[in-house]
Amino acid sequence: MEFALTAEHDLIREMAYKFGQLEVLPGLAERDREARSDRTMLDKMAEKGILGIGIPEKYQGSGTDYISLGIACEELERADTSARVVMSVHSGLHSLTILQWGTEEQKQRWLPALAKGDRVGGFGLTEPNAGSDAINIRTRARKDGDSYVLNGEKTWISLADYADQFLVIALLENPAEEGKSHVAFIVDRNTPGFHSQAIHGKLGVRAGNTGQIFFEEMRVSATDRLGDDGDGFKVAMSALDHGRYTVASGAVGIITACLDACNKYCHERKVGGEEIGRKQLVQQMIANMVAGRDIGRLLYYQVGWMKNVGMRHTRECSMAKWQNCANAFKAANDAVEIHGAYGYCDEFPVERYFRNSRGAMIYEGTHEIHTIVQAEYELGYRKDRPLKVTLPPFE
Ligand code: CAA
Repeated sequence: MEFALTAEHDLIREMAYKFGQLEVLPGLAERDREARSDRTMLDKMAEKGILGIGIPEKYQGSGTDYISLGIACEELERADTSARVVMSVHSGLHSLTILQWGTEEQKQRWLPALAKGDRVGGFGLTEPNAGSDAINIRTRARKDGDSYVLNGEKTWISLADYADQFLVIALLENPAEEGKSHVAFIVDRNTPGFHSQAIHGKLGVRAGNTGQIFFEEMRVSATDRLGDDGDGFKVAMSALDHGRYTVASGAVGIITACLDACNKYCHERKVGGEEIGRKQLVQQMIANMVAGRDIGRLLYYQVGWMKNVGMRHTRECSMAKWQNCANAFKAANDAVEIHGAYGYCDEFPVERYFRNSRGAMIYEGTHEIHTIVQAEYELGYRKDRPLKVTLPPFE
């Protein structure tokens, strides 16, 4: 078993950290307060090659492995969750799913532009009445000659106003086979019948764009279908194997950010002439954060390694997402506690970590869904079978 990271991993970490410090943090407090996202962030990420991490050179990506993707997410979220969300949606849910499920022609058609950031990808599964219960979506796809006509709506869509194309899951009208009704498409936002609308008033990730997308008699060519008729739910679930990985690694970045802030504050703030870092109850909170960070890294490195070698990792990815997000929320709660009243206002960043980390316990599988999934695996009610198509191993 090899635990060492490579020099390339270290370079990716340093690059993503610097990007966070120089490009994400300046002006962030205002953007977060005003709930204003910055579209130019995507261009800056593209310029640095960040949007191509995890995509093979053959498709004009960086040619780096899947662990690199996790490390980049960790360091981006150390600056702000909104930057990591871009990776989750564009790289994880969208690009890697095309890499897994696309035909060679589709990969050649879509991946180079996505890897270079010339186009941005989004993901549409959740609907107003189908979140955890993802199988029961209502968006319809009607077959009509060589194309499909889509009607429906998706909600809580990150980058709804910015993405050029979306991976959308719909329900096939009159499926050939009972139970084989889900179908996945890559849809272009410039197609007649598409429109988006921003969601306002979010608790966290306020510097990120979130919205709804709507399809009204929207025609999609059969050449833009990912997988076959009936594969749509599997496409969605494997997209979540990629998205959850980025969320799990990003959550470690929040814990590190909490430690950055608390480390500083513990030495600055004194009680009775003594640094608060000397207080044992504060030390307990710091030690828990360190454990969350270090265990969290092991969990996501393992998933990254499983992706690298082409192993199915649904169970391990769920574990990493479940535990890391819970530990990030706990770390952020403790970071607020350590900062006392200062932690309760936006003079310090920890209140933002608290609000941002809460969201990750809801999206990409709620805390409760992952709890149940883990219990089901252990009790033998849930078993992973070999997949029809797998993510190409890292070469
Ligand atoms: N890869 C490929 N196929 C998979 C898979 C995976 N990871 N997981 C399951 N499948 C396949 C199964 O093999 C099965 O196929 P067969 O019947 O042929 O074997 C089929 O999909 C159904 O799988 P399950 O039996 O596991 O389905 P289930 O109904 O038991 O799943 C559930 C229940 C786990 C709760 C699932 O519905 C789930 O994960 N729900 C949460 C959905 C979710 O995370 N939503 C987040 C939306 S996206 C988002 O949040 C992003 C954002 O931007 C905000």
